[in-house]
Amino acid sequence: MAHHHQQSAAAVIGLGSYLPPHRITNDDLATRLETSDEWITSRTGIRARHWAPPGTSTSDLAVEAGHRALKSAGLYPEPGAVDAVVLATTTPDHPCPATAPEVAARLQLGTAAAYDIAGVCSGFLYALATASAQIIAGQAERILVIGAETYSTILNPTDRTTSVIFGDGAGAVVLSATRDPEQPGVLLGVDLGADGSQADLIRIPAGGSRQRANPDDPELGDPYFTMQGKKVFAAAVTRMQHSAISLLDRIGWTTDQVDHLVGHQANIRILKTLARHLDIPEDRAVINIDQVGNTSAASIPLALADATASGRLTAGSRVLLTAFGGGLTWGSVALTWPDGLTVG
Ligand code: UT7
Repeated sequence: MAHHHQQSAAAVIGLGSYLPPHRITNDDLATRLETSDEWITSRTGIRARHWAPPGTSTSDLAVEAGHRALKSAGLYPEPGAVDAVVLATTTPDHPCPATAPEVAARLQLGTAAAYDIAGVCSGFLYALATASAQIIAGQAERILVIGAETYSTILNPTDRTTSVIFGDGAGAVVLSATRDPEQPGVLLGVDLGADGSQADLIRIPAGGSRQRANPDDPELGDPYFTMQGKKVFAAAVTRMQHSAISLLDRIGWTTDQVDHLVGHQANIRILKTLARHLDIPEDRAVINIDQVGNTSAASIPLALADATASGRLTAGSRVLLTAFGGGLTWGSVALTWPDGLTVG
């Protein structure tokens, strides 16, 4: 609301998450796909994921997580509670309009600005980057940043290569302006990148302006999510590693000063390889992919929520977020963990 706080910093003051109740185990999937708990666990580290029931959409999950984050920040959902709602998602309720305005309205947030970010699995970090930049520029005092996905609605139910990987869920943080750059919770730096020459590695081929969706004939318009896993794996490790190192160099942290590495939960093997390449001990990598699968834009806030709820993230600890996804896109954010934050 106030627009005169130039030179402020953005700090995390609230955190919330939501998983739809329906939990799908690997064995559940093996009853209808040619796969096994052994293959999924050993190749990905995933043991279960949550899928929203039919009729539940991304905004439904986003509203739950957003509500919890506001509560965690000590804010009542009412007009003026935040100046903007930024929603990172690959699975908007509709191709048009953006989903964030509906989420803001259902959260009773008045006429706060609201927009979506389409960065696939890097979307939440792109959203943190734009939201914190708005705060630092004095355009907003407080912003609700949400990552929410219902991948279950875009998975081809007959494709075992994607169906076993992705899960639904939502996570959210509240960012607030502060004049104190030393305040625990402050975002200390951002690194973002993209390489659209490899856009075809992760794609929903149809349903956009290039090709209309035709569910009756996938050749004419495949409306489902596709991924070339092996190529994505290799690029993911390299891009996250370089992004993280370039950010750490810029803010003056060495890798052994990183207390918690919170990487996009795409594959446990990617997370472990990344930690090794960064020379960060494996036990500093936050891992919750075993319980939630790959939740794309919701992945990082869900991992933060789990690590906070379990008492792992403590006030002042140094946290490095890093993600990689379709686009291709990638990014990293460094912050210290806020004091006394309870996850909503
Ligand atoms: O979130 C955005 C970023 N995404 C990522 O970072 C994902 C990165 N990629 C990966 O995590 C991995 O590539 C996957 C987990 C997706 C796949 O693991 P992989 O070790 O690369 O397996 P693959 O695709 O090379 O497949 C190996 C074999 C194939 O059989 P053949 O050709 O060797 O006979 C697949 O057909 O495993 C087969 N396979 C399966 N078998 C049982 C593929 N999916 C399954 C399955 N169950 N669900």
